[in-house]
Amino acid sequence: MDDEYGGMKWDNLGFGLMKTDYMYTMKCGKDDKFKQGELSRYGNIELSPSAGVLNYGQGLFEGTKAYRREDGGLFLFRPQENAIRMQIGAHRMCMPSPSVHQFVDAVKQTALANRRWIPPPGKGSLYIRPLLIGSGPILGLAPASEYTFLVYASPVGNYFKEGTAPLNLYVEDEFHRAARGGAGGVKSITNYAPVLKALSRAKDRGFSMSCTGFVNKRNIEEVSSCNIFMLKGNVISTPVPNGTILEGVTRKSIMDIARDLGYQVEERCIPIEELVDAEEVFCTGTAVGVAPVGSITYKGNRIEYKMSNEVVSHKLYSRLVGIQRGIIKDNKGWVLKID
Ligand code: COI
Repeated sequence: MDDEYGGMKWDNLGFGLMKTDYMYTMKCGKDDKFKQGELSRYGNIELSPSAGVLNYGQGLFEGTKAYRREDGGLFLFRPQENAIRMQIGAHRMCMPSPSVHQFVDAVKQTALANRRWIPPPGKGSLYIRPLLIGSGPILGLAPASEYTFLVYASPVGNYFKEGTAPLNLYVEDEFHRAARGGAGGVKSITNYAPVLKALSRAKDRGFSMSCTGFVNKRNIEEVSSCNIFMLKGNVISTPVPNGTILEGVTRKSIMDIARDLGYQVEERCIPIEELVDAEEVFCTGTAVGVAPVGSITYKGNRIEYKMSNEVVSHKLYSRLVGIQRGIIKDNKGWVLKID
């Protein structure tokens, strides 16, 4: 195993780009069919200045992770879900998309080609970033004439620089993340740059640079890079996806785990005021995992939540991580062995 790691130091891995060895590229021309893709050394790509993605934001991304287990086995977690979500997003953005098989195979090949970058168990994971972009040149507003599917990877640890400490969430009331009928429900690259302004405003007010909550008509919708949940009694609620909320793979998995553990799970509109009475609030995402919220600040009012190792979000996350690491039996076919 030491050989695989090549002397890498895995302690204190954060969520930053560490260049790995290989990336995967697959192209699609006017016939809307992706041709056989291939691995190449990780590096810059060449794009026409008039590529659809650069001019009109015709692009989607995904995020999934590869894990190394105690016995050395390498696994992916529900990559088919990311493939399906990319297909739905591609439809919204007028792009052709890889088949589920092509997507999963590309993710698998990228993970295996970079296997020396998959951290030891408990130290992190290999974050895999598939991208689908309009790479063909286009001047008038129209779909691009060629598309590129790319997959690269980076080893990561905790998303937040605060580690696993509870998040202090600033809820933005001026900027919205998405509007009904827009592309907020798919993982379009165009959903993310507009969030940066809210993040920097939160930072100016002394909150974490990487996390801001968004409301729409006073309903809490999403956090900058993750979904949000609240617990009250035996009921776990999360905003209903109505076109402005990204349907996270971790969100979906946590809802299933919560039901298995006997909680009632509801997807509904959640007025921000309801969070005052919540016993717990937590965020979920592939990058973030399951992160407890310690406080929420909205319109100058701060709500605080009790924290302990007994919190329900901790129980849900332990079960998710247990399945990913093979400590808890995977009865749902969520993990995919790749080596
Ligand atoms: C993920 O959780 O994979 C995401 O896409 C969030 C990203 C903004 C880091």
